[in-house]
Amino acid sequence: MTDDARLVSGARRRDDRENIALRPKLLRDIVGQDSVRENLQIILDAARARQETVDHILFYGPPGLGKTSLAHVVANEMNVNIRITAGPSIERAGDLAAILTHLKQNDILFIDEVHRLGRAVEEVLYPAMEDFVLDIVIGKGPAAKNVRLNLPRFTVIGATTRLALLAPPLRDRFGAQFRLDFYDLAAMEHIINRAAGMLKVEIRPEGTSEIARRARGTPRIALRLLRRVRDYAQVRADSVITGPVAGDALALMNIDHLGLDDIDRRILSTVIEKYGGGPVGVETIAAAISEDADTIMDVYEPYLLQLGFLARTPRGRTATPLAYEHLGLPYVDKNGQNNSSQPPLF
Ligand SMILES: Nc1ncnc2c1ncn2[C@@H]1O[C@H](COP(=O)(O)OP(=O)(O)O)[C@@H](O)[C@H]1O
Ligand SMILES: [Mg+2]
Repeated sequence: MTDDARLVSGARRRDDRENIALRPKLLRDIVGQDSVRENLQIILDAARARQETVDHILFYGPPGLGKTSLAHVVANEMNVNIRITAGPSIERAGDLAAILTHLKQNDILFIDEVHRLGRAVEEVLYPAMEDFVLDIVIGKGPAAKNVRLNLPRFTVIGATTRLALLAPPLRDRFGAQFRLDFYDLAAMEHIINRAAGMLKVEIRPEGTSEIARRARGTPRIALRLLRRVRDYAQVRADSVITGPVAGDALALMNIDHLGLDDIDRRILSTVIEKYGGGPVGVETIAAAISEDADTIMDVYEPYLLQLGFLARTPRGRTATPLAYEHLGLPYVDKNGQNNSSQPPLF
């Protein structure tokens, strides 16, 4: 390994360790998402009171908003084991059967990226979720026998960034479904302050709000920016994150005052400059900037939609006047008229 590679992997190990430490443990550690928290509290309290297994739960929404954290919180709150897996890593029906037969009463099976389960695997999951049974075939050819095994009652917690890709029968089997939304500024500031406290970083209120404003309403991004700003403060300032220190550090990372980075801006400028403001398909945008279409849809687009910079139409994405304004480009509507510099007629 080169020194650089060692440095990078060292930093990554430190980040991983810190991520685990920063993860909320109980419902009361969850900041924001009030409606999700309240509804979850009721479901868990009710299950506890009836001494029953918690119903299957689905969390969906853009990456970094707390889906995985909430799955762990449910396990901690109910004091049960959590078994973690992901859609793409359960390749064959037999893989899932092996996981299911090792579950104990009340265990949680967390399936991340649940929209990426294969058809054959889903077929095994349906009866397991609904009736807690596992249908397996023993032997081959004419001597093959169908055997039905009873499973203990367990809870599936699914997470997905793309609800629309989830097969409807699978979606229907989740008794509780929660959409996670981008966090407001106050929640973001709370999360940053809490993390700064745990990381023992000195931060001023202006430093906190500077990071919060540019973190796209996403806790994972806030924590990442906080760590990078901490590094900057350590090297270039006296380790204290003031407003100007945070501002300088973030400017150095090319993150603008709304939290958009180079890729966000390239997406917008591609739609505007190459495709006349759209509509243009995501695949086309992806090819134009050499990014993966799924990454654009999962990671970049939701926030640009939320800001009202992009709009989704049946024929593709269009850039709104707000996007033109943000990039400092004159807005030209479809009649070819330059609207931004023209005073209203009446
Ligand atoms: N509501 C929250 N309150 C505090 N921290 C949060 C919250 N949601 C997420 N985080 C932090 O953000 C990080 C990313 O969350 P995660 O659960 O991994 O997101 P997802 O699974 O949706 O991609 C976690 O490390 C966690 O510490
Ligand atoms: Mg996750």
